[in-house]
Amino acid sequence: MRTFQYAGMPKVYFGKGALDTALSQELAKVGSNVLLAYGGGSIKRNGIYDAVMAQMKKAGKTVTEFTGIMANPTYAKVQEGARIVRENDIDFILAAGGGSVIDCCKIVSAQAKMDGDIWEAEFTAHRFPTEFIPMGAVTTVSGTGAEMNSGAVITNENTKQKNGMGGALSRFVVLDPTYTLTVPMGQAVSGAFDTLSHCMETYFGQPSETNVSDEINEAVMRNVIANTRAMIRNPKDVSIRSELMWDSSMAENGILKIGKTTDFQNHMLEHQLGAYTDCSHGQGLAVIHPAVYRHLAKDNTAKFVRFARKVWHLEDDGRTDEELALAGIRALADFIKEIGLPSTLTELKANLRPGSPDPTDKGLLRNIADSTITTAGCARKLTADEIYQILVECI
Ligand code: NZQ
Ligand code: ZN
Repeated sequence: MRTFQYAGMPKVYFGKGALDTALSQELAKVGSNVLLAYGGGSIKRNGIYDAVMAQMKKAGKTVTEFTGIMANPTYAKVQEGARIVRENDIDFILAAGGGSVIDCCKIVSAQAKMDGDIWEAEFTAHRFPTEFIPMGAVTTVSGTGAEMNSGAVITNENTKQKNGMGGALSRFVVLDPTYTLTVPMGQAVSGAFDTLSHCMETYFGQPSETNVSDEINEAVMRNVIANTRAMIRNPKDVSIRSELMWDSSMAENGILKIGKTTDFQNHMLEHQLGAYTDCSHGQGLAVIHPAVYRHLAKDNTAKFVRFARKVWHLEDDGRTDEELALAGIRALADFIKEIGLPSTLTELKANLRPGSPDPTDKGLLRNIADSTITTAGCARKLTADEIYQILVECI
């Protein structure tokens, strides 16, 4: 284990009915002007909006709405939110949605308290926010675990960067798995794969040797894999959704990262793929992961062998370590196909919005490779040329 500090996670209200329990206790502790933030309107169709508004009324709050937060939230949207917060003297922000809504609110919360531009502050002056409008989160689609941490992923459309930023940590989090029953299956599977990706990005970080965080991580990965398959078979089963919802939070609440330096190279690459194409985060990760790991397997063979044995239940069967390591990566690639996620950039292209840039265009791939942040976490640092090569292999 490396040295670490762990400051805990936000207070979690989990399970059916958690929203009413949470809001009836928490709203009394905040000021009267509340910003309710959400996306394109799914919360209006599935009853979450009405349930929130009933609690707001009971608590006597004045509610201002901040709506239309898009998947892969943009920096312009953050600025719109910060303006609304200032103009309406907002005391508290309630984010109701997935990673996109929650992330957008984390930065709105910080930007509203800051005089200068937060993008400039974080990426030019390397100055991070210390003051925030308090916020809470109601997670309506699981996978990112965004509710559990203060990091946010924001797309700057002008500079074509999708960057991790430092923002607010929620005071409390509502996790009601019944809310996720209305999420389209493709999105639910994509979210589950994002959780698996967070586990892997942590597992393949340093140190590589056996440690308690990685052993817990193996259990979470097995649970995600089993319950993703189970969810596809039984889409209406709430206990399966509750497993996946807590897996998602476990992957990002810091527990699996204790004593570790994480990798997140696949995320850095997917974020740039997303910045250029606006693809779904989980789908982009699905395309990239096996190819990245095929490039790194021989630099960290022992860990990939352990991954094959402990996560995919593979036996040696007379294989060399290197062959077993590659068999584990093949099992990952087979799982991606089995659950219906794209395995190539050509398949990803078919799922993009009409008019999106072509992710099989080699010029575009060169730009993505050249703008990807490289990490040293997994086995070795990749070069921009190798990242380009990986992307070409994904076509
Ligand atoms: O906008 P609405 O109408 O609400 O529809 C959303 C959206 O279209 C829909 N949805 C959400 N809850 C629903 C629902 N539809 C029906 N029923 C419900 N209960 O789902 C769609 C996708 O939502 P989104 O929030 O974009 O998905 P996700 O949670 O996967 O978030 C993706 C974003 O999070 C970032 C990603 O990069 C991406 O920008 N990430 C954030 C992380 C973090 N902060 O820790 C970590 C991740 O690695 C990730 O990078
Ligand atoms: Zn992710």
